[in-house]
Amino acid sequence: MGDLTMLRSRHLLGIEDLEPAEISLILDTAVAMKEVGTRSIKKVPALRGRTVVNLFFEPSTRTRLSFELAEKRLSADTMGMTTAGSSVVKGETLIDTARTLEAMSPDMIVVRHACSGAAHVLARVCRSSIINAGDGTHEHPTQALLDAFTIQGRKGRLAGVRVAIIGDLAHSRVLRSNVLLLTRMGAEVVACGPATLIPVGLGRMGVTVTTSIDEACEGADVLMMLRVQHERMHGLFLPSVREYFTLFGLTAARLARAKSDAIVMHPGPMNRGVEIASDVADGNQSVILDQVANGVAVRMAVLYLLAGGEQNEGA
Ligand code: CP
Repeated sequence: MGDLTMLRSRHLLGIEDLEPAEISLILDTAVAMKEVGTRSIKKVPALRGRTVVNLFFEPSTRTRLSFELAEKRLSADTMGMTTAGSSVVKGETLIDTARTLEAMSPDMIVVRHACSGAAHVLARVCRSSIINAGDGTHEHPTQALLDAFTIQGRKGRLAGVRVAIIGDLAHSRVLRSNVLLLTRMGAEVVACGPATLIPVGLGRMGVTVTTSIDEACEGADVLMMLRVQHERMHGLFLPSVREYFTLFGLTAARLARAKSDAIVMHPGPMNRGVEIASDVADGNQSVILDQVANGVAVRMAVLYLLAGGEQNEGA
């Protein structure tokens, strides 16, 4: 591990705010956290007496449950709130909801929201540490961190690794966080999708942009497929799902264009037969379930470091 032992900010709002040394610190800390998950008693006292609120205004399986598990493995007290069953359905605003929760003195709030910038708004009005668990089409920092942890675990490094990110680029916070992280850590990133789903300015983020999936797959070490986000499409971006799969779906033939030891990733949830063929998703080059497992270790690392890391342990 390097010299750095703490993160500069008490919030994790995006990869945008992290320096390479901080990314390395999180990834190195996650190695130790992963070891905790191999023990018969998968629990350490690092966050004993700390309260974490999980505030999910959008559906989630992986992120919400892995944050909950990470918090429990660190011995934190946790509370969860989703839109359904809360006063949000009666019209309570995000800020009023956050202030209400703050009155109960949590130490950290993990938030997922459909609006880009929602986590930043909370960071301005709350005393608690805010962790962005996905805000609109903006960022999903812990997803990019767990993706990097998975790539580093399989390839031994991030620098120089060729990563092709393919799919619905326009609506993807996973793309944005991964591009920021991977380029910052010296990886070579190629982004591929239909011309209607390429965000303006992507080429200026240090990535090669193409509409040819064959070109994107050629020589890649990592193929990262992105979900077609129908729920965020308010217009006609795709002629049909069938045509999308024909032009942009990852098939075994396209995978064969990548390096022979290439890994296949997907943040989930997957649309099988849309962005990825089932035999590829379940094949021996797929690390999709490793990503899920690594999500727990990486989120433990983030929670631990935001709570003060080694300094907190001495408290
Ligand atoms: N990757 C991801 O964010 O999945 P969930 O929506 O299930 O949390």
